[in-house]
Amino acid sequence: MSVEIRFATLTDVPEILRIDTIAEREERRYDYISNAIRGEMGRTVKVLFVEGRMTAFAVIGEFFGHPFLELIATNPSYRRMGIASALISNLEAELVDDRFFVSANESNTVMRDLLVGRGYRITGMVENLDPDDPEIFS
Ligand SMILES: CC(C)(COP(=O)(O)OP(=O)(O)OC[C@H]1O[C@@H](n2cnc3c(N)ncnc32)[C@H](O)[C@@H]1OP(=O)(O)O)[C@@H](O)C(=O)NCCC(=O)NCCS
Repeated sequence: MSVEIRFATLTDVPEILRIDTIAEREERRYDYISNAIRGEMGRTVKVLFVEGRMTAFAVIGEFFGHPFLELIATNPSYRRMGIASALISNLEAELVDDRFFVSANESNTVMRDLLVGRGYRITGMVENLDPDDPEIFS
C-alpha cells in the first residue's frame, strides 16, 4: 500500500472538504481550511494519500505557544485502518516542541480512544464551546 503525506496546497481544498463531514453543515469550513493552508495564524495543513487518493487531513495550529492538533479527519470509507494514526505519527515525528496538544469533544469516544491508545493524557476540559459537550484537551 503506497502512502504519501505532504503539506496541503489550495488546490487540495475541495478534496479536503469532501473528507470533512462537518463541511456539509458549515460553509465557514472553506475559509478555515483555505486560510490554514495559507499559514494564517501559524497554522499548517497536512494531507495523506493512499494509492494516490486523499484519505485524511490534519490542521495543526498553536495552543499557548505549543503545537496543537486542531482537526483531523479520515474519509469515512477508510476509517479504522490506521490512517489517522499514521498521520498523527508523521506529525509527532516532525515536532520540534516537547509537547503536542489535541482536543476532542467529550462525546467523541472514537477520537478519545485513539488518543488514549497513543498515550495522550488529559490536560483539562473547557465547557461552553459546544452546548453540553465539553472539549477535552490532551
Ligand atoms: C477520529 C478519526 C480521525 C479516526 O480516524 P481513523 O483513520 O479511523 O483512525 P485509526 O484507524 O487510526 O484508529 C486509531 C484508533 O482510534 C480508535 N478508533 C478508531 N475508530 C474507532 C471506532 N469506530 N470505534 C472505536 N474506536 C475507534 C481505536 O482506538 C483505533 O485503534 P485500533 O484500531 O488499534 O483499535 C475518524 O473517525 C474521523 O475522521 N472522525 C470524524 C472527525 C473527528 O471526529 N475528528 C477528531 C476531532 S478533531
